[in-house]
Amino acid sequence: MFKEFLFYFLFFLLTIRPVDIVVGLQWGDEGKGKVVHFLSKICTMVIRATGGNNAGHTVVFNGQKFAVNLLPSSITRPNVKSVIANGVVIDPSVLIGEISEMRKRGIRVEENLFISNRAHVIMPWHKTLDALLEKAKEEPLGTTKRGIGPCFSEKSQRTGIRMMDLLDPVTLKKKIIQSAKITNGILQHFEYPQIDVESVLEEYLGYAEFLKPFICDTGALIETEIKNKGRILIEGAQAIQLDIDLGTYPYVTSSNPTSPGALVGSGIGPRFVRRVIGVIKAYTSRVGAGPFPTEQNNETGDTIRERGVEYGTVTKRPRRCGWLDLVLAKQAVIANGLTELCVNHLDTIGTFDEIKVCVAYFYHGKMITYVPADLENCTPIYETFKGGFKIRGLTKFYKLPKNAKKYIRYIEKYVGVPIRFIGTGPDEKDTIVR
Ligand code: GDP
Ligand code: IMO
Ligand code: MG
Repeated sequence: MFKEFLFYFLFFLLTIRPVDIVVGLQWGDEGKGKVVHFLSKICTMVIRATGGNNAGHTVVFNGQKFAVNLLPSSITRPNVKSVIANGVVIDPSVLIGEISEMRKRGIRVEENLFISNRAHVIMPWHKTLDALLEKAKEEPLGTTKRGIGPCFSEKSQRTGIRMMDLLDPVTLKKKIIQSAKITNGILQHFEYPQIDVESVLEEYLGYAEFLKPFICDTGALIETEIKNKGRILIEGAQAIQLDIDLGTYPYVTSSNPTSPGALVGSGIGPRFVRRVIGVIKAYTSRVGAGPFPTEQNNETGDTIRERGVEYGTVTKRPRRCGWLDLVLAKQAVIANGLTELCVNHLDTIGTFDEIKVCVAYFYHGKMITYVPADLENCTPIYETFKGGFKIRGLTKFYKLPKNAKKYIRYIEKYVGVPIRFIGTGPDEKDTIVR
């Protein structure tokens, strides 16, 4: 009787604030997909809320490997509702490709995939403009060339096309004509082909036919989930240093990959949030251009890349690698309202005899411990730790060697929030839960 009461009481407590959020704390690729898949086993719903198919999230479990770009990382779990919410920009051809790939691998998505009718659609000219803008810039950003920036631009300029528009041929045609009117001038100026309204219309009506059964009002679905005391996890994409407001502008993506952005992108307010889990690697990587104070453009960086297998999930580009930067991590705690951390790749960094960690910057002749808007003017100040620990696959904290524990405890103390999860390998079972 008491046990039953306790169970219902705990369940009640958990469901008062039913939403947890997972966000990236560096420049992306921290292992968010792995953490989301791991945590989603106790959830009823997982929501992708931001970004688009510039994201590439890897999930390794039961000897299988999945890489998803638009589908939530929970998609392999038939009992979890996987939602692509209003904040995501969707390239329908990519999404259809992902769904088809899942079906080929025996994963049915018919009952558990939901796509917001408010989500914006990436159109062919967004990809052309992405490439064109990169070419026209003095210093290209190194975007993923997936049309992300131009799609968000059209959304903000209020000429964007939403998933619901795909379901109405008359509206869709009107909107394509409108965008063509605005965009064709630019395309002509740069000597790119004009938008062919009829062929785009035909192509996208074909996508609509395929995606129709999944498109719905995800806001209403989420409301019901909260009312029914479901447990919701929001899967962040990208990371704070790619945030258009807080990151290394202009070398950023075109959205807000922080926890507030995740809430806007799923249509949920902060009152419902229980945990905000920041995912960080025990070192740092970055794809594309822009400042990166702790970058090791040398043998150390090459070794991190080889040992951590740091090649882009989306573009296959070799990732730039360097030491962990705790000044950036601390900024991420406040901006995201983090309650805890997950530190991945402890196994990778442990293979180095000496590990460096940035704890402050020299900035215009002064020492600082905050992140200035001109990060490129910062020179890192390091603390050095002893490494040399082999921990691949360990699942118990007490089994970690002394040096590994010291490293973890230092990060925890500096950042000021507990490290609840530690990654000791790419497989989700290689996880220490504290
Ligand atoms: P995401 O975009 O944040 O989901 O991360 P990605 O999937 O793009 O990149 C993370 C990479 O690190 C993937 O190849 C993962 O399989 C791998 N990974 C994640 N956690 C760990 C870890 O703790 N140790 C090791 N060795 N690999 C990991
Ligand atoms: P996940 O979710 C790493 C980077 C690109 C480029 C910049 C702008 O897998 O962590 P965009 O195509 O968004 O306009 O490119 O942002 N970028 C990412 N880097 N991981 C990601 O996602 C990224 N999404 C965008 O490399 O530098
Ligand atoms: Mg990634």
